[in-house]
Amino acid sequence: MLALLEDPPRLVDPTTPVLRADDLGVARGESVFETLRLAGGRPAFLDLHLARLARSAERMAIPLPSGWERLALTAAEAYGDADGMLRLTCSKGSAAGAPVGFALAGPIPVETVRGREEGVTVVTLDLGVPADLRASSPWLLGGVKSTSYAVNMASLRAAEELGAQDAIWVSHDGQVLEAPTSTVAWVTGGVLVTPPAEEIGTLPGTTAHVALGLATVPVEVRRGTVEELRAASEVLLLSSVRGVAPVVRLDGRDLPVGPVTSALRAAFEAAVRSPV
Ligand SMILES: Cc1ncc(COP(=O)(O)O)c(C=O)c1O
Repeated sequence: MLALLEDPPRLVDPTTPVLRADDLGVARGESVFETLRLAGGRPAFLDLHLARLARSAERMAIPLPSGWERLALTAAEAYGDADGMLRLTCSKGSAAGAPVGFALAGPIPVETVRGREEGVTVVTLDLGVPADLRASSPWLLGGVKSTSYAVNMASLRAAEELGAQDAIWVSHDGQVLEAPTSTVAWVTGGVLVTPPAEEIGTLPGTTAHVALGLATVPVEVRRGTVEELRAASEVLLLSSVRGVAPVVRLDGRDLPVGPVTSALRAAFEAAVRSPV
């Protein structure tokens, strides 16, 4: 299901070409995107995603056209009631042209649902920068959801080569950052901890925002070391489509699917389905 950002939004065949060969999104990775959950014919937490899309576009100097809410609702309605995912993309366009927006809806891959239900195996990977660098050097685009995700995808391939399904980036000075497509959280001493996105230049996750608000244990937003992460009683990866996924092995150490993760996963899945 593909919808184009026009006034009104236009549904077209999903195989319709939408970008020019000289689009700066294609040529230079200058485009921004959001991926969100579809449930019961509506996009979950759309306001949070649209606010972040606007923030990402501003950081990439992409003049974001209007009409995203209507576009997302149109695509969601056309997709129907089944569980699905929606990707909103705004590409910068050609040098002389205007930004191009579109929404693509489709089913959630089975392995994504399996990761949520059965958990994922993870290795930590050194991102090679000190924890403060991405926040203090905004041109590195930490915290921006741009389609320049080649490093993120390469990290997932590196994790796979190490026998794991996902990765957690740590800074060169040993602090926990984020995962290539998820926010990281962990349980230590009964407290649910997640790193401060603004402070360390990671993406402010919408799932973390919603899920941590539903937690029934104390929550701390603070920095943590890789040693603390490895000693945690539970480790979680949070992202819109997979939701709350338990980490069942971290750097070769098996972890149980603990009570905090199970409760949070159930609460988040209920929130996705409850109309706002
Ligand atoms: C780098 C990164 N961090 C965190 C997240 C989680 O964000 P959200 O919960 O809004 O999906 C994502 C999602 O794709 C991501 O790409």
